[in-house]
Amino acid sequence: MNQQKVAIVCGSTQGIGKAIAHQLASEGVQVVLVGRNQERLQATRHALEVVFGPQPQPIQADFSKPNEVKSAITAWVAQGNIAHILINNSGGPKSGPIVDAAPEEFLAAFNQHLICNHIMTQALIPGMKAAGFGRIINIISTSVKQPLANLGVSNTIRGAVANWSKTMANELGQFGITVNNVLPGATHTGRLEEIAGVRAQKTGETIEEIFTDMGKESPMKRIAQPEEVAAAVTFLASEKASYINGINLPVDGGRTKSL
Ligand SMILES: NC(=O)c1ccc[n+]([C@@H]2O[C@H](COP(=O)([O-])OP(=O)(O)OC[C@H]3O[C@@H](n4cnc5c(N)ncnc54)[C@H](OP(=O)(O)O)[C@@H]3O)[C@@H](O)[C@H]2O)c1
Repeated sequence: MNQQKVAIVCGSTQGIGKAIAHQLASEGVQVVLVGRNQERLQATRHALEVVFGPQPQPIQADFSKPNEVKSAITAWVAQGNIAHILINNSGGPKSGPIVDAAPEEFLAAFNQHLICNHIMTQALIPGMKAAGFGRIINIISTSVKQPLANLGVSNTIRGAVANWSKTMANELGQFGITVNNVLPGATHTGRLEEIAGVRAQKTGETIEEIFTDMGKESPMKRIAQPEEVAAAVTFLASEKASYINGINLPVDGGRTKSL
């Protein structure tokens, strides 16, 4: 991958986003971390710098506050920065049955996942067009293809994000900008520990027992590591993926039943 590329990786202080940041940096990409917490951002940046050399200043922004995201990315672009790669990613919505979800939960998830992706993308398109190269990759979920039990709000909003993304892909391909979605299956991160914790409280199982059980749903008979999702993202972000556009790529070990 070209040494001069810059990537903005949202939700990159933990889990899948952090693994993506590491893999892109290992390819020589300059990585701008994004997250809510300045200490976690600086610690993650430091960890990258120890291995891969100097990295740009992170962007602090809370995706539950679209106006804050807009101000932060507008200021970044106004400083003359451009990004060739944008990874749209943040924390998943709270789990639970859809029948129990409050209307406000859908609005909050829509803002965090669709509106903030849109704000980030709109702000960065001019720079990508000028560079004649863009990679926009959205971390969504396999629920785009098959709704998952007990993730009512998430299932609903993921479909909207996937259709937003496909529409963007249709409009941006002509500029050398691709827009693709990566759909993780069960992946060992803080998000999955949170979901397993809710189940553990109800059933009395340990988190490890729950992870083993979740793994059985996949033909691989195990859950994924974040690095396995990051590898797919790193490929889609590369020059090699130049004609892959508008796709949903599950990284779920084959768990999704549909083709
Ligand atoms: N893990 C899985 O099994 C799995 C499966 C399917 C889909 N997914 C989806 O993949 C995405 C990433 O999941 P993950 O497992 O990597 O999650 P994670 O371990 O909880 O990490 C989430 C990251 O997003 C950041 N973040 C959370 N809320 C934010 C907010 N309001 N504004 C800005 N940044 C925020 C966090 O950083 P700070 O706290 O420092 O801000 C953290 O770096 C989520 O949408 C999740 O639902 C995960």
